[in-house]
Amino acid sequence: MTTMAPQTAAPRVEMPPTEHRPRPYNGPSRDEVLAMRRQYMNPAIFTIYRDPLMIVEGHMQYLWDETGRRYLDLFAGIATVSCGHAHPTIVKRMQEQLSTLPHGTTIYLHPNVAQLAKTLAAKMPPGLDVTYFTNSGSEANDLAIQMARLATGNTDVIALRNAYHGGSPTAMGLTSHHTWKYPMGGDGRVHHAVNPDPYRSPFTGTPEEIATKSAEDVRDLIRYSTPGRVAAFICEPIQGVGGVTAGARNYLSEVYGIVRAHGGLCIADEVQTGFGRTGEHYWGFQNSGVTPDFVTMAKGIGNGAPLAAVTTRMEIAKALTQRIHFNTYAGNPVSTAAGLAVLDVIDAEGLQENARVVGGRLKAGLERLARSHTLVGDVRGMGLMLGVELVRDRATKEPAKGETLDVLEAAREAGVLIGKGGLEGNVLRIKPPMCITKGDVDFALDVFDRALTSVRRG
Ligand SMILES: Cc1ncc(COP(=O)(O)O)c(C=O)c1O
Repeated sequence: MTTMAPQTAAPRVEMPPTEHRPRPYNGPSRDEVLAMRRQYMNPAIFTIYRDPLMIVEGHMQYLWDETGRRYLDLFAGIATVSCGHAHPTIVKRMQEQLSTLPHGTTIYLHPNVAQLAKTLAAKMPPGLDVTYFTNSGSEANDLAIQMARLATGNTDVIALRNAYHGGSPTAMGLTSHHTWKYPMGGDGRVHHAVNPDPYRSPFTGTPEEIATKSAEDVRDLIRYSTPGRVAAFICEPIQGVGGVTAGARNYLSEVYGIVRAHGGLCIADEVQTGFGRTGEHYWGFQNSGVTPDFVTMAKGIGNGAPLAAVTTRMEIAKALTQRIHFNTYAGNPVSTAAGLAVLDVIDAEGLQENARVVGGRLKAGLERLARSHTLVGDVRGMGLMLGVELVRDRATKEPAKGETLDVLEAAREAGVLIGKGGLEGNVLRIKPPMCITKGDVDFALDVFDRALTSVRRG
């Protein structure tokens, strides 16, 4: 067990002010809510802090608990609130739609869903222009695998170790973390290749050499474990739940080449990396100069509205027409109103550019902290998708699991919410709403500095 040091240094930087005043909270107490959850909700549902936090209001990058205390949100409802909590433009457009027609299905025409599909196509590389909307990222990935199998006539799928692609039966088969996998019959035709992340790779060499060796591992996997032909390869351009891990830039082009040579289609899971979060590009795969055959999306596309999608080429999408496919909420008018507003807001408010600039400042600050805190083993990521891996010893890379939780708790105490990830839960995950400012970053860095100082090695 690790213990917190008794004192944390006084803050040197204040949380930037906001004009937003939260409404008085008059609902059930935090303890009552906790008791209801414990009695009436499935016990598999977890909270992140030792002492659960209740959040009752949000405005842009800030959240408030039931006592009116404000927090800087650097986790964005798990990389979901792309534009800001209760963003006024998005709220207005959802409200207008809600009071006009809250529900409609694709058996009737409605402008929102068609317009969103068209607008998304304009954001994609040429040819990737046919979309199926779903409610969640898991469903989007399920559907991509289904279409890839139908379109290629092959069944085997390659995913990466340390990946997270969702919790539905098919998506859980793609996921590669024992912590998220239940012991039940799953999709036995999924094979997991070596993760190209250089920090914990079994291969040695430069990041580029490790990427090449990891891509060759996929070739081996196809030769050893499949009939020699595969339906699909799926990966996150930067793994999210896995702890913000990625291969060097050459990985995706090399692995896509190998997969395509064996009849497979390539799926980019952009659930966390999409919509400008990586700063340099709108989509994570563009950072590697590749074009996938499918792009799956969720989270940021709706700024919190339940909306997800899979985009592919028409000739692949047609594979689904051999039977009827239907999803009640696929293209719900309110969710798609949110999606249309999100795409407008990202462009109108320059959020991708903000992710690049403010994310760069944050990463540089984290790298500075790494020089004075030996607990920090690795700082990685792009734009506003950043990870800090904590280790007890930089040489052995022993995961600093308990210490990570302590940093998380200390940051919360100081008013900053972050997430954690990685197989061992020893990576701090920072994925804020993309509207955060330089002032927020400077405040957060001061909090991280003090939090890292306050944690004793266990
Ligand atoms: C990369 C990635 N893909 C898929 C999913 C699954 O999305 P959902 O929880 O909406 O089913 C997640 C969720 O965290 C994710 O991070």
